[in-house]
Amino acid sequence: MKQTTLLLILVSVFVSVNGQVPIAQDAFDGITANVWLDTDGNSIQAHGGQVQKIGDKWWWIGENRDGNRNICLYSSDDLYNWKNEGYAMRVVSTREMLDTDPYFKNLYGNLTRAEKDAVYDGIRSNRVIERPKLIHNEKTGKYIIWFHADDSNYGAAAAGVAIADEITGPYRFINRSRLHRLPDEEYGDEWYEAANYRGFARDMNLFKDDDGTAYIIYSSEENRTMFISRLNNDYTDLAVPQTPVGLAKNGVDFIRLFPGAQREAPAMFKYNGKYYLITSGATGWTPNQARYWMADEIFGQWKDMGDPCVSEPDIPYPAHLTFRTQSTNILPIDPANGKFIYMGDRWNSGNLKDSRYVWLPVFISPTGEISLHSVSNWDLSFLETINNVLGNLKTVNNK
Ligand code: DGJ
Repeated sequence: MKQTTLLLILVSVFVSVNGQVPIAQDAFDGITANVWLDTDGNSIQAHGGQVQKIGDKWWWIGENRDGNRNICLYSSDDLYNWKNEGYAMRVVSTREMLDTDPYFKNLYGNLTRAEKDAVYDGIRSNRVIERPKLIHNEKTGKYIIWFHADDSNYGAAAAGVAIADEITGPYRFINRSRLHRLPDEEYGDEWYEAANYRGFARDMNLFKDDDGTAYIIYSSEENRTMFISRLNNDYTDLAVPQTPVGLAKNGVDFIRLFPGAQREAPAMFKYNGKYYLITSGATGWTPNQARYWMADEIFGQWKDMGDPCVSEPDIPYPAHLTFRTQSTNILPIDPANGKFIYMGDRWNSGNLKDSRYVWLPVFISPTGEISLHSVSNWDLSFLETINNVLGNLKTVNNK
């Protein structure tokens, strides 16, 4: 066989239905954010997502924006090349399918009619399913997804939960509900404190602390106030229920933060005993200024640290607009040694499925402040050169 014929055959074997040839990656685009293809050659659909290591692989969960609102999952050995693991949780097109489709019958077949109605209400295909985040419960062995579960007009403002025995699913939708709020007498008279905004849960994320306690972080009160609530030991519900109001105590079971600050897209991480919370502003799909807070305790005092994005001459995307991204997650690569990646979405509001992923190294100063910079075409070895603050201290001390 001639070499050119062999090449053509090989290329056609690897060309996906989209006609793109997947090329093995060994770097992150960073700020330039070209289309990121999976190992089949299709554009990765994991927007508003989260990446973490579970077992011996990295897992990327996120929103599908290509035709339906099923939740997508990808796996990787190296963080550059991602294999599509299929839909983790599927939405349902008709109520009838819960009774007739084998996939849904398997998950929901033993529910009562009313319970199935509630499932349909939560994950029918015109619902908003955004910012899914995955958490593994080592004690129960289960995998749990929390997500922003909403109506198409964002009026439900609820958090959804789904559970599975395997990381790849199928995930069974459990419930969607609003979350914590203060007792009535503790609210003031700001417009966003009105009764109809209390308990809202929209943009959200999860955080698992070193002792296994997990938290949900969410934009509430019409996206003007951030809440953090402790989850139960199974990670399937709040630790202390939202009703009756007052049972869960502010500062003990949840914390109400930054009232009126109008923050979205929370992403929390922990480094050197401090908690960090990066957030965006709230301007729909349009980029805005990032801002982060630091605390010694999750239910303690959070200090406003300002915008972590640093402007430099001639950078293509403005730092004061988070380099045209919105935070979605901080990826812990090697937390003990200060190695974290900022994951941002560069939304394309006119064609959401073509929204891009901007991954940037998180710089940490010796005194613990973080910064983000306009970095392109970088790989994991870069993290060795910028931070490792504790590692550097150790080296200094050992001298
Ligand atoms: C901003 C949020 O961060 C996104 O997740 C999405 O809900 C858009 N708003 C919708 O406009």
